[in-house]
Amino acid sequence: MSIPTAVRIVEVGPRDGLQNEQTVSTAAKVGLINALSQTGLVNIEAGSFVSPKWVPQMADSADVMAQISRPKGVTYSVLTPNLKGFELALAAGADEVAIFGAASEAFSQKNINCSIAESLERFAPIMEAARAANIPVRGYVSCVLGCPYQGDVPIADVVRVAKELYRMGCYEISLGDTIGTGTPLHAQRMLDAVAEQVPMQQLALHFHNTYGQALANISACLPLGVQVLDSAVAGLGGCPYAKGASGNVATEDVLYMLHGMGITTGVNLEQVIQAGHDICSTLQLKPRSLVSQAALANKE
Ligand code: HMG
Ligand code: MG
Repeated sequence: MSIPTAVRIVEVGPRDGLQNEQTVSTAAKVGLINALSQTGLVNIEAGSFVSPKWVPQMADSADVMAQISRPKGVTYSVLTPNLKGFELALAAGADEVAIFGAASEAFSQKNINCSIAESLERFAPIMEAARAANIPVRGYVSCVLGCPYQGDVPIADVVRVAKELYRMGCYEISLGDTIGTGTPLHAQRMLDAVAEQVPMQQLALHFHNTYGQALANISACLPLGVQVLDSAVAGLGGCPYAKGASGNVATEDVLYMLHGMGITTGVNLEQVIQAGHDICSTLQLKPRSLVSQAALANKE
């Protein structure tokens, strides 16, 4: 198979990024999401309806959803761990929701306080309610290339959970290297194995960049035909239940690489760099994107 000519980016910075940074104001989140929605991005993960005790940074997700501008053609999704979360997401006007499971038992317990089997049971009523409300559901599998508690994660466990989420009706399965420990050949083998059970067109990669491997892993997987990549503006964030995990691969870095390879995304890199710069000024951080750092240095 040859590399795709176009890739869809799912921007997860406002959720995966900001869930693990110091809490920023609702207005700053709204400003970030509005800026991102002007860049050509068509999928923006805007927040989470999870327990505010577990992830206080996402406690204002309903206010964020109420205050953002909603240009046509942009899909705003949120995380929902259970039916309560789904009901809150529906009331907040989410276009799409995401359920999140794991390939590692230990991570499932730490992240959502239940076993993998129990999580799948909790997801069933979400799938049913989403179907009735005509809301597409995305499914995450965490720890696809390693677990912060268990270490190695057998590829067969990743395949089993991904296949089950797909069977339950998720339209897309996002494969999360939660702690960014994966390396290219492992990533390829994992994707190849999942794609034997779930069509490649329904798979996305969600790689964190903790060990600096995310771009290498993505470029190893592109020739397998994957066409959806998750990334976070300015490489924000991490996961509150994966100690030491750093942010997702930066959207700016992914865009630069894809465009350089002749792969279209429909996203304006300059505008994403500006949006990342602005939220990083609020957070008093340097953007964790080398592309952004280089471009901003050239401007000075
Ligand atoms: P629990 O304590 O087992 O649940 O948590 P519970 O049903 O016993 O409820 C406990 C309390 O939470 C109750 O409140 C509920 O009302 C409340 P209290 O009576 O104590 O005041 N509650 C909720 N509140 C708001 N929204 C809800 C909700 N549900 C219960 N939906 C639970 C179970 C799943 C809720 C909890 O473990 C949780 O919220 N976990 C979320 C953790 C999380 O958000 N992690 C980060 C996102 S996952 C991630 O980053 C990985 C990903 O990026 C992919 C990758 O990188 O691999 C997706
Ligand atoms: Mg993540």
